Amino acid sequence: MAEDKNPRVTIPSLRAKKEAGEKITALTAYDFPVARILDEAGIDLLLVGDSLGMVVLGYETTIPVTMDEMIHHTKPVVRAARRALVIGDMPYFSFHLSEEATLANAARFIKEAGAQGVKVEGASPRRLAMIERLIEAEIPVMGHVGLTPQSIHHLGRFKVRGTAFSEAKAIIREAAALEKAGVFAVILESIPQEVAREITERLSVPTIGIGAGPWCDGQILVFHDMVGFDGGYLPKFVKKYADLKTLISTATGAYRDEVRAGAFPDVEHSYHMKPAEARKLRASRRGR
Ligand code: KIV
Repeated sequence: MAEDKNPRVTIPSLRAKKEAGEKITALTAYDFPVARILDEAGIDLLLVGDSLGMVVLGYETTIPVTMDEMIHHTKPVVRAARRALVIGDMPYFSFHLSEEATLANAARFIKEAGAQGVKVEGASPRRLAMIERLIEAEIPVMGHVGLTPQSIHHLGRFKVRGTAFSEAKAIIREAAALEKAGVFAVILESIPQEVAREITERLSVPTIGIGAGPWCDGQILVFHDMVGFDGGYLPKFVKKYADLKTLISTATGAYRDEVRAGAFPDVEHSYHMKPAEARKLRASRRGR
């Protein structure tokens, strides 16, 4: 059988990348057309993040995002991804009530939406027990420590974590506990690069950083931030690789002006009858 030149990214292949010292590329995705572009560009991992709530659905935080919204947006990303691994983000309160509810919600990402794993924020003892239960049920889990946006009401605002020694040590302990619980990768969000380096060197599973400096095994950004889609506040760690907001505003302004001026649609963008048929139509009008 011929060797597949562009094999699917799998959980073991992410680990192999870490071992080979190859960086893992990841971005968030929430719909079919964008996921298709990111997949074709060779991004390894597409996270249907609960950042969906803030960048697509217009919520102020990720807290209101529901399981149904997450499943609705995970399905098209799965349909688009031919190579990338697709991970669904467990929204707030989908993994807090009971093991049964947590399992049922995580299984929806796998069975109903077709994702290959889920992400869970936090590493409290109770959270670790839930994560172990999911892994026992064959649901791969990605951990997430540092700034965990679902803790917004505890934190008061989104801010860098682990700048002081004691908090840094706590985050390092959490990452190690997640590895022990069996996660296949850990997201490190908004922590100093020194802390991320320490975690990356200690863990055998890949670390994927967002605002965690260059030492992580991979990097992830929120797609809308990376392409300048909404143009609002961006944290220091976001690099804007494009300015889609300006591009879309300029295009929309040009469309508005052309419609108002009657310049669009022009001949090129209109359908036409065959001349003989058009003559018949005109004649029928005259004759009624
Ligand atoms: O929801 C999300 O997009 C995330 C990333 C920031 C890692 O959790």
